[in-house]
Amino acid sequence: MPSAVSISRLYKRYDDLTVLNDIDFEIPKGCFFGLLGPNGAGKSTLINIMAGLVNSTEGSVSILGHDVKRQWRQARQSLGVVPQELVIDPFFSVIETLKLQSGYFGCRNNREWIDELLDILQLTDKVNTNLHKLSGGMKRRLLIAQALVHKPSVVILDEPTAGVDVELREVLWKFTNRLHQNGHTIVLTTHYLREAENLCEQIAILNNGKLAALDSKTALLARYPYRLLRLTLTNPVIKIPDFLQDKVQTISENELVLRLHRDHDQIGAVLESLRVANISFFDLHTQEPGLEEVFMSLTNSSNK
Ligand SMILES: Nc1ncnc2c1ncn2[C@@H]1O[C@H](COP(=O)(O)OP(=O)(O)O)[C@@H](O)[C@H]1O
Ligand SMILES: [Mg+2]
Repeated sequence: MPSAVSISRLYKRYDDLTVLNDIDFEIPKGCFFGLLGPNGAGKSTLINIMAGLVNSTEGSVSILGHDVKRQWRQARQSLGVVPQELVIDPFFSVIETLKLQSGYFGCRNNREWIDELLDILQLTDKVNTNLHKLSGGMKRRLLIAQALVHKPSVVILDEPTAGVDVELREVLWKFTNRLHQNGHTIVLTTHYLREAENLCEQIAILNNGKLAALDSKTALLARYPYRLLRLTLTNPVIKIPDFLQDKVQTISENELVLRLHRDHDQIGAVLESLRVANISFFDLHTQEPGLEEVFMSLTNSSNK
């Protein structure tokens, strides 16, 4: 059985710039897959190659076994892409856009599905509105509907929540969860790691055009052998004792966050050295690491 997406020895270069560098992985059918990485990592380029919008320099990508270059029509038919940029033809109305898109994919008599999409995305009362009159959020809803008119089995969302309000986020997650439950493969790109943490089963981390990690979310989180000790300080810290220097995650006037190794650091010993150093606090709690910490240790960057 072919994977939903198969990427093999993929390179993309623009002159001297290598944007994708030997990318090689599979996305299993039915998976909720997260493609993560800092801005400029190459996520959109990879997605655009999957969608046949950008040509790779070397290597291949196939969607459900269809090569995106040689069998682009079948590949395209299996895929729905919600792009990062809001590109929309302003001359049409919502319903005209969706009908045109259906025609492009050869879908006739899908009005029922279109109505369902409009309903789920809360666009029903905008059905005859011209696109230039839609707000940014409404345009994004339409892009989502547009990507789904042909019920593609693989759905790719490129940063769908960037600049989106809370309400639309809720609608979006409910909807993608439903698609996932109905057997669709979902590929989600986001730099909001908390979202990926809640939703994705498998995760690929891209950094500088290279695959920095590929694993299940659980295994990825388990790879990081630290937990955080968060202390609410009574007074600002004047000097961090040497013993704790390499354990400081962040420090501010009223909070000190220490990164403790799960096996090697004992909280008792750490608290004792804080007492000896006269660092006093009125609250403390420990926190298990999230994807943010894993991500930072893998990419050596803050995720901005
Ligand atoms: N058409 C292009 N010409 C030259 N460089 C490009 C082009 N498109 C993207 N890039 C570069 O490729 C890198 C990856 O971009 P992109 O795939 O958009 O990253 P991401 O989506 O992870 O933020 C960036 O350095 C970007 O400037
Ligand atoms: Mg991008």
